[in-house]
Formats: sequence, structure tokens, C-alpha cells
Amino acid sequence: MRLNILDMTKEFGNHRVLDSVSLYLEDVRSLVLIGPSGGGKTTFLRILAGLEPITSGEIMVNDHRLSCSEEKLLEYRKHIGMVYQAYNLFPHLSALENIILPLTRVHGMTKRDAEDHARSLLKRFHLEEHAAKRPVALSGGQQQRIAICRAVAIKPEFLLLDEPTSALDPEYTSEVLDLIRELHEEGMDLILVTHEMGFAHSAADYVLFISDGGISAQGSPAEIFEQSENHRVSRFLDKVLKYTK
Ligand SMILES: Nc1ncnc2c1ncn2[C@@H]1O[C@H](COP(=O)(O)OP(=O)(O)O)[C@@H](O)[C@H]1O
Ligand SMILES: [Mg+2]
Repeated sequence: MRLNILDMTKEFGNHRVLDSVSLYLEDVRSLVLIGPSGGGKTTFLRILAGLEPITSGEIMVNDHRLSCSEEKLLEYRKHIGMVYQAYNLFPHLSALENIILPLTRVHGMTKRDAEDHARSLLKRFHLEEHAAKRPVALSGGQQQRIAICRAVAIKPEFLLLDEPTSALDPEYTSEVLDLIRELHEEGMDLILVTHEMGFAHSAADYVLFISDGGISAQGSPAEIFEQSENHRVSRFLDKVLKYTK
């Protein structure tokens, strides 16, 4: 994917969360955002998802110019898959119905085509035995994998994931990360916010460190995780990795 961000500022009321951010990236296939809590990662991701209008500046994502018009953002959002921390499935619908719903409601597929497509996705990701279950009958890891299936069912241009494993019990983390890796290896472009530094290191082709209202450091995983001379970054990594070494 291609990202071209020019002087982007985002304010909530008079709180400036992102201040004059510029970024140009071409051909990035997996972009990982890391950084301290409250630094603006979710806001950044929601802007790229077309869920949050910016206060000023310009953004191009592939061939789409993100505009402030709600109508155009709605159209843009149809091309994007978004996965949240967790518990984001409709509780009254089965796993299968959760995947079908956006296909028929937003993408105009017939019920029959949507169901065929949803079933083949569930099969491909070894989730078919859960098709008829409601979220409450599934583990956190299974729910999140269904949510990822729902997001990719629309064949998005790329997939945005906001800390997709941080609300899960630790034993479910790897099954979700495995699915994300598999999708990526099949050609799905990703923008991922995560605290899973091992995964970030191995799966990212480019890393942004978001803090203090902007991109405080950026580079390849090796540049960020192994050789960063930025004190904010090394302090953050020391804290996050303290008990993993
Ligand atoms: N809808 C909102 N209204 C007001 N302030 C917000 C809103 N969303 C986020 N913020 C503020 O923006 C800052 C960045 O938040 P966020 O993007 O969630 O950071 P992160 O995901 O890195 O933890 C925080 O100070 C947060 O309180
Ligand atoms: Mg966040």
C-alpha cells in the first residue's frame, strides 16, 4: 500500500493529539505502530480507517484521498477491513451470520453468495465447526479469528488491526497472530497496532513509533528494535520487554 500524509493534525476539542504529521511510504506491506499508551496510535489508525476526520492536512491512502465529507468516508470505508481489540462481534448472531451481515447489508451480495463465501472462509481458517455458535459460546481467540474473517470477507484493500490480541487470555494470542501472519503471507496488506514486539519484529516491514503528538521514530524493524538511538524508543522497549528476556 501507499501512504502519503502531509501536515496532518488531529484535535479533539482543544486537545491536539496528532500535530503536523507527515509521512510518505510506498510499497509497504505491513506497517506496525508501537508506542506508549495515550500516544495517538488508535487515533492514527481510526483516521486511516476513515472513521475519524482530521482537523487539517492531507492524506492519500493508495488512490483514495481521505476527505472530511462523511459520505465519501463511508464509501472509502467499504474498501477497508478493521479489527478491534475484542468483543466486537454482534452477540445475538452466530459466527456465520456475523460474517454474512456486512456482505449483504453493505456490499450488496445475495444471502446465498454471502453464505457460500462466509463458509469457505471459515473452512479455510479451520473455523467451520463454530459456524452456528454465538460469540458467548466461543473462546476469546475464536471470537477474534471470526472477527478477522469478517473483516477480510469483504476483500479489503488492506486490513487495519488495533491491538487485536491485547484483550485476550495469553494462551489465545498465538492462534490469532498465526492467522494474521497467514493472511499477510497470502498477500493481505496490514497496518497493525500491537504490543507484541516479537511479532512486530518478525512481521513488520516498517515500524512507526507514535508518541508526543507524532511519529517520534520510524524505520525497519532492525532499526527500531535493535539499533534505535532514540531515547523515547529505547526506554519504551526496555519497559515493554523487561520480563521477556
Ligand atoms: N474521541 C476522543 N475524544 C477526546 N479525546 C480522545 C478521543 N480519542 C482519543 N482521545 C485522546 O487522544 C489521545 C490519544 O489516544 P489514543 O489514540 O487512544 O492513543 P493510544 O491508542 O496510543 O493509546 C489520548 O490523550 C486520548 O485521551
Ligand atoms: Mg489505542
